Amino acid sequence: SAAPGSGPVVVLVGPPGSGKSTIAQLLAGKLGRAHRDTDTDVETQAGKAISDIFVDSGEPAFRALERAAIVAALQDDGVVLSLGGGAILDPDTRADLAGHNVVFLNVTVGEAAKRVGLGVARPLLLGNVRTQLRNLLEARRPYYEEVAKLTVDTDNRTPAEIADQILEQL
Ligand code: S3P
Repeated sequence: SAAPGSGPVVVLVGPPGSGKSTIAQLLAGKLGRAHRDTDTDVETQAGKAISDIFVDSGEPAFRALERAAIVAALQDDGVVLSLGGGAILDPDTRADLAGHNVVFLNVTVGEAAKRVGLGVARPLLLGNVRTQLRNLLEARRPYYEEVAKLTVDTDNRTPAEIADQILEQL
């Protein structure tokens, strides 16, 4: 676990379509902090898009890069950090998140499906997006809840409302 005052000021977790990147950017702006995102860090490190890492090297290779990005990002003082949706699958990551201000952005399957439909290609959401998201959420919900200090429902709320709740309750 982290020493007091060290590492990110807040860490956002949740499934694809929960709004992690949007809320993290908004929070970073409100707090005057930098936004750091482990998906972006992995892409920079690998020199290619996550979808290409999955195709070229497979999910285990992606998870290893993701784990290294998380270890580095958790040392970055003062940032607002967003993690990829599957980051919490790793027990070492779940252990490392203890002592951090972790926020779980909760979302229903229907709302998450709407949001990812508008976004970039996601390698784990090929085929029936709703079915994939339902399976993801069912398998991961216990882990999101395990690491979270605060759970925020995001359906039917604006990013500004969500960010304000996080700032009030954290
Ligand atoms: C993944 C989610 C993605 C990305 C990768 C795997 C997952 O991030 O890390 O495609 O396992 O849920 P987002 O949650 O930002 O889509």
